[in-house]
Amino acid sequence: QRSYEYILVSRPEPSVVLVTLNRPKSLNALSSPLFTELNHALGEADKDDSVGAMVLTGSERAFAAGADIKEMKDKQYADVYKNKFLEDWGLINQLRKPLIAAVSGYALGGGCELALMCDIILASPTAKFGQPEINLGVIPGGGGSQRLIHAIGKSRTMELVLTGRTFTAQEASQWGMVSRVVGEGEGEVVKEAVNMAKEIASKGQIAVQAGKEVVNAAYEMTLAEGLRFERRIFHGLFATNDQKEGMAAFAEKRKANFTHS
Ligand code: CAA
Repeated sequence: QRSYEYILVSRPEPSVVLVTLNRPKSLNALSSPLFTELNHALGEADKDDSVGAMVLTGSERAFAAGADIKEMKDKQYADVYKNKFLEDWGLINQLRKPLIAAVSGYALGGGCELALMCDIILASPTAKFGQPEINLGVIPGGGGSQRLIHAIGKSRTMELVLTGRTFTAQEASQWGMVSRVVGEGEGEVVKEAVNMAKEIASKGQIAVQAGKEVVNAAYEMTLAEGLRFERRIFHGLFATNDQKEGMAAFAEKRKANFTHS
């Protein structure tokens, strides 16, 4: 286990890894070193057979206030282009296991984009989302313009990207960007996310990973391709022990004991 400077990694449940962004003085601004650590920690959890799902959170005040503006401000085009600035953020989308964002406080710019990269978002009533890059003379660079369209539609995305205004947890929930707003109280959103992760981890992990894969495929494929892909993966699951066990357990009126095989 490597030690980290900008994140905390814990096991709130034997099957769940919780990663907490931990740069409180800069409201969890997503510097390059922070992102390297985040990718490393999530990559390790993804490889660990005892882990079924991951939760990503920040502090009560900020999930993350964006990419690190102080790190970016003096960069030149040649520099960001040659060094593929922010390209490693995409590694999060190569994770096989579900990643749940538990968002409290500011989720701005790259922070909002990071939440959107997660598979499920739960928000506390204090969550404040936004893509304020326009106020810095730039645009979203971590996928915000593209992922928001899918999540909340074009008109709202255009408004948010062009005005930079923040939006509330309530709005995000009404628009379908977050699954739900959890009850008030410190730590409530993390507790809910960990419970959800624990529940997901109790299922057959091959089916869970297949489920994530087919849902994500809907972003990339036509409906006809997506339906065929879903059916093929569904057929493939009949080669697993978990399918035999899950269906036998139902017929025998007992709880399934999945072996993730
Ligand atoms: N980068 C670097 N430092 C940041 C930061 C960021 N994105 N956001 C906050 N900080 C730092 C502040 O500079 C401040 O540091 P100092 O104490 O050293 O001055 C500290 O965090 C606390 O912030 P504030 O004093 O500003 O706290 P506040 O409560 O008055 O305001 C806030 C909070 C509204 C979130 C404000 O900090 C803010 O507007 N932050 C920037 C938000 C933003 O523009 N994000 C987009 C970044 S660009 C991006 O993300 C590009 C992309 O698409 C990938």
